[in-house]
Amino acid sequence: MADLSTWFMGLKLSNPLVVGASGLTGTPEGIEKAAASGVGAIVMKSLFEEQILAELGKETQGLDLDAYPDAEAFISRTAWEQGTEKYLDLVVQAKARAGAVPVFASINCIGPGNWASFASQIESAGADGLELNIAYMPFSTSLSSRDIEDRVLSTVREVRRATRLPIEVKLGQNYSSLPNLAKAISKEGANALVLFNRFFHFDIDLKRMKLIGAQPLSSPDEYHESLRWVSLLYQRAGIELAGATGIHDARTVLKFIVAGAGTVQICSVLHRKGWVAVPQLLKDLSEILDGHEIVALESLRGKLSAQVSGHPEDYQRLQYIKALTGIY
Ligand SMILES: Cc1cc2nc3c(=O)[nH]c(=O)nc-3n(C[C@H](O)[C@H](O)[C@H](O)COP(=O)(O)O)c2cc1C
Repeated sequence: MADLSTWFMGLKLSNPLVVGASGLTGTPEGIEKAAASGVGAIVMKSLFEEQILAELGKETQGLDLDAYPDAEAFISRTAWEQGTEKYLDLVVQAKARAGAVPVFASINCIGPGNWASFASQIESAGADGLELNIAYMPFSTSLSSRDIEDRVLSTVREVRRATRLPIEVKLGQNYSSLPNLAKAISKEGANALVLFNRFFHFDIDLKRMKLIGAQPLSSPDEYHESLRWVSLLYQRAGIELAGATGIHDARTVLKFIVAGAGTVQICSVLHRKGWVAVPQLLKDLSEILDGHEIVALESLRGKLSAQVSGHPEDYQRLQYIKALTGIY
């Protein structure tokens, strides 16, 4: 059977499947189920920057909903009322329940601030790594793209100062020069990028003339932008890559690996199918590799990335690829 193990941010994982942050990983029981399912690593449900600031006694204006584009479910009152102490306790319990499976704590933030020092407590609690979901929604017309990118970079800088843990930065896809930003994030000391976060989808109910949230779970055809950017950035920005959003089956997992991802995060598929989805994905992945007589998954990493492929121009000229495939 093919070896599915992968090196990611200095950690050897049994396989590249990582449970993405969500309510599924917000309790010790959930973490235990995640580890038992066979995933390679686990990202805990996020703690919010505001929760940390509240504990520090800083003034908070409450939740700035304009700035937070993430799923409403993240911002549930219960999550809000859980303080930092409870989160640290969850890290300790998560480590105890996950056995050998690495556990990443997660902080959802919109910019730099005093909260960053909390990363050192997460390290002391025993987390194997830290994911920063930097989810700032640019609402103001006076902020430039450079301003927004500076926010991201100062956030990473402050957190890097506070901890030696491996840091992965989870980004949304709306940055005008992602290769440049990725390199700058790497220079600030982050170890990996998670491409991409899936923001709360926005919709309008015409009947009730109200804003509503669209389907919070992704569908299997939502992975293409993440795949494009993993393949474009692999070995070009000095940072490791994790694929995320719309990864629902083993073939898609494999696409991300050949594009250059060290790990792939899964969330919606688990909400839809339950933890049984994990052994199924692993079985399907092994079968595909065995069918091609591939001994180690790691040997495929980045094979079809822009850098390794030898044809970087193909990755820039989509029309050309369309013409080649004869679809258009
Ligand atoms: C109900 C729900 C809760 C989530 N909670 C978090 C969270 O706390 N922190 C975070 O960074 N991402 C959170 N996410 C985003 C997921 O981790 C993931 O990035 C996103 O759903 C895209 O992956 P998928 O297509 O596999 O679902 C949540 C997603 C859902 C559906």
